[in-house]
Amino acid sequence: MLDQRALSWRGDLAPGLERSAAGELRIGGIAAHALIATYGSPLVVIDLALLAHAVGEFVSACAPYDIEIAYAGKAMLNAALVKYLAPTPLAIDVCSLGELITAERAAFPAKRLRMHGCGKTDEEVRAVAMGRVGTTIVDGIEEIERLGNLARADKPAEILLRVNTGIEAQTHAYTRTAGEHSKFGISPDQLNAALTLTRRFPGLRVRGLHSHLGSNIFDLDAFGANVDVMVDLLAQGIAQGHQLDVLNVGGGFGVESAPDQPLPARIADVTSALAQRAKTRAILRKILPPKLGIEPGRALIARAGTTLYSVMAVKAHGTRNFAIIDGGLADNPRQALYNAYHHVIMASRPQGDAPRRYAVCGRSCESDEIGEATLAADLAAGDLLAMCTTGAYTFSMASNYNRFPKPAVVFLEGGAHRLVVRRERAEDVVAMDVLE
Ligand code: LLP
Repeated sequence: MLDQRALSWRGDLAPGLERSAAGELRIGGIAAHALIATYGSPLVVIDLALLAHAVGEFVSACAPYDIEIAYAGKAMLNAALVKYLAPTPLAIDVCSLGELITAERAAFPAKRLRMHGCGKTDEEVRAVAMGRVGTTIVDGIEEIERLGNLARADKPAEILLRVNTGIEAQTHAYTRTAGEHSKFGISPDQLNAALTLTRRFPGLRVRGLHSHLGSNIFDLDAFGANVDVMVDLLAQGIAQGHQLDVLNVGGGFGVESAPDQPLPARIADVTSALAQRAKTRAILRKILPPKLGIEPGRALIARAGTTLYSVMAVKAHGTRNFAIIDGGLADNPRQALYNAYHHVIMASRPQGDAPRRYAVCGRSCESDEIGEATLAADLAAGDLLAMCTTGAYTFSMASNYNRFPKPAVVFLEGGAHRLVVRRERAEDVVAMDVLE
């Protein structure tokens, strides 16, 4: 069990991190250098104690209001993680055949899978029609027809219609998924037509509506305003004779990624605000309060992750110092895509009394600066660095740019560590090449 102290930032140590008396970084109680000695570098480390804490926090925050939680697998998914989640009350939101197969390989119950995607392939639509997921979130009119034509009347596909409510939350434009600049969902003015269309297909059973505003949102007002619009649309659909009792308001709950950043609202406060808002609005619209659902990804897994890197080279040009690490853009594109910040600290030893600022750079053939960090003045090749809060959307967005192999992923639990995703080798990277 983690004590409360370990759950907040202490100085520049992210939750779950501590330093030994000699100043070496320990993650979940295990020395960073021991992990690198065992698995190599770079390495993605997931501390299951932090994940367990986040799961527990969501479960107890949702229980009083009977809110369903689906983990958004796009944040990070592998078979071991699915196996870990199976005994929890969480469902999993998958958005591709790859994510679906990952869940199936780990024997996750189909009923607790939710299928997303704004451009589902024929194979994905067939998987839904065959009952390989419990609920499907339908993103547009064509999809109603495509799925409706395949779904069987004797085994109907339960669906939610995703709506673009037009509420633009404050977050990076690339991670905003509602508003007129967003491709997602059905426009409110087309919702009636979409609902009417579903009636043509006996294999479709519409259970309710879905919306997702975007990701890493700290502003609770946007979630509240979204609930109002969604309940209004639900009431409109009910007035048309549709039986709609589910309202999924998506994910997007923000996570701090630096010691001095304001903290997001407590999850218990978020869920109580969402439930209260939905209830008040439902009373106003004279409908029963809907069964709510949420889909957190980042807020469940981000804090549990740390990436360890080795310093490959140290340089100075003019007034700037550079530390080049054995990863970067390929294994974590978040800085390049969203100008995201991940705090970087010394892992093999302390930064010392007179540290220096370094531009930490990846090893790809681009100027892939991933941020400034305060590190030892005598930083040298072979030192280990830790990048904090990398559990969400780093490994899952990693690429093989420059034909770099992807790092390994390990889970830490109860003072032990285990490999859950093998490190790619250069041979794996070239394995799909066809040479005739
Ligand atoms: N539900 C839907 C339909 C989603 O599209 C997403 C995220 C989530 C739930 C989970 O959102 P979360 O709770 O994790 O914020 N690559 C970006 C984030 C993109 C999020 C995509 N959709 C990043 O690295 O920040």
